[in-house]
Amino acid sequence: MESNPKIPAHVGLIMDGNGRWAKKRLMPRSFGHKAGMNAMIELADDAADMGIKYLTVYTLSTENFARPAEELEGLFNLIRGYFTSNVKKLYKRGAAVKVIGDLSVLPQDVQALLQDGENGSPKGASFTLVFAINYGARTEILRAVNKAAESGKKLDFAQFESLLYTSGIPDPDLIIRTGGEKRLSNFLMYQAAYAELYFTDVLFPDFDKKEFEKAVEEYSRRERRFGKL
Ligand code: FPP
Repeated sequence: MESNPKIPAHVGLIMDGNGRWAKKRLMPRSFGHKAGMNAMIELADDAADMGIKYLTVYTLSTENFARPAEELEGLFNLIRGYFTSNVKKLYKRGAAVKVIGDLSVLPQDVQALLQDGENGSPKGASFTLVFAINYGARTEILRAVNKAAESGKKLDFAQFESLLYTSGIPDPDLIIRTGGEKRLSNFLMYQAAYAELYFTDVLFPDFDKKEFEKAVEEYSRRERRFGKL
């Protein structure tokens, strides 16, 4: 099937606002993250239904890694839950998962589950949910630069891009950030060179199918010139 240019092939999602969503309900931050995970699960299905090929979700940044141990443990538990059970629903619809970031500092069991999640994914999937975990664009770029230096060769773009975590994944066409802030926060900074950016005040747990469709609709109305006239 020809891809529809009005539908982004790759959407990046900065899922901000879980903490504030919980606070408004006088609930702990962990409650907001759980609600955020549920929203993300729905959005992955919606993305696949819309014909989007890749959805990259900013689950934990390298900076978030400095959050209190209790909050991190809560997030790891959500990851454990997702990768032990929910992921199978994605597989059932022929979709795959992939993980990007520095996973080496995550608890061993979480690393193993993430690896299993990738290995268990169906081959030739038409949709991939990409989890950015302990991900930071600066770390990603520096890691690639060091690999390039080790090779002792000058690289072209394609060779450099093959050293990024996202090797083999097309650049994001659209990056959505919920929760009111208007910045990339170290997310896919190399790959986002020509991404359309969409910011909304909606807190992530409230970002539903209707809001997602609104973002894609706005994307479809934008004229992308990639620096040309
Ligand atoms: C930022 O909101 C969000 C995060 C640091 C975590 C996002 C993670 C999820 C939505 C769960 C993802 C799914 C799995 C499988 C683990 P914030 O807490 O910084 O919100 P605030 O700005 O309102 O404080």
